[in-house]
Amino acid sequence: MKIDIERISKIYSRPKKADHVVLKDVSFSIEAGDFVVILGESGCGKTTLLNLLAGLELPTSGAIHVDGQKIEGIHPSRSILFQQPALIPWLNVKENVSYGCKIRGDIKELDYRVNQFLEIMGLAGFSQSKPSQLSLGMAQRVCLARALVGHPRALLLDEPFASLDTFTQAHIQEELVNLWLSEQFTAVFVTHDIDEAIRLGTKIILLGGDPANITDIFKINEDYPRDRNHKRFKEIRVKILDRFKNAYLAKRSLV
Ligand SMILES: Nc1ncnc2c1ncn2[C@@H]1O[C@H](COP(=O)(O)OP(=O)(O)O)[C@@H](O)[C@H]1O
Ligand SMILES: [Mg+2]
Repeated sequence: MKIDIERISKIYSRPKKADHVVLKDVSFSIEAGDFVVILGESGCGKTTLLNLLAGLELPTSGAIHVDGQKIEGIHPSRSILFQQPALIPWLNVKENVSYGCKIRGDIKELDYRVNQFLEIMGLAGFSQSKPSQLSLGMAQRVCLARALVGHPRALLLDEPFASLDTFTQAHIQEELVNLWLSEQFTAVFVTHDIDEAIRLGTKIILLGGDPANITDIFKINEDYPRDRNHKRFKEIRVKILDRFKNAYLAKRSLV
């Protein structure tokens, strides 16, 4: 899925205060099959941007096109994974994974697809478990299986692994990359974690400023799984930290 973001701005109005311009004139393109990471500090507007790509919100001005069609709301071809696993507590794992497809009437080979994803995610033995019986990492795996079982063309991820411990994070990051390589969806992954960005992305887009805009783009062609001590990654890490430091100093000198 090719995604074109064309001069979008997002402004929130606030009672008794000036309007809050979160994003201003942001433009960039995401090629089909890319793994794009949007990296920025907390509060800079990453979730706002991802919600616009999902169609959960609409831009105040500008437009987003997917394969030439303007986004005017949510669509099952673009799946979303949030920071916290949001599962239906009274349904078991298998029912949770199949729920969205069932509601939409997308039931062709659904049982086979659900079992396949539960197997890939190492959840086959937990298909009858309720969400309350799962660890956070397992619950997020269920959400990932649910997000992919309908074979979306794009997967939008909003800091989905931020609450997981380092080890679980490393495993699930690798599983996500393997799924992306085999399923060939376009991935847009929001994070504030530089190492996570370097481990995952074919392209890292830095978001910063107030209102936020793109401050830099890094392309990474290295194979997976990636070694975080690779020379190229060290260089990119230093460059990204430099950009953030400069932006921080510039902001402080204005105060
Ligand atoms: N629905 C909303 N109404 C008003 N302000 C919002 C809304 N959503 C986000 N914001 C504001 O937009 C800014 C960016 O928020 P967000 O996109 O959540 O940042 P991030 O995900 O990078 O932490 C914040 O200052 C936040 O308060
Ligand atoms: Mg956010």
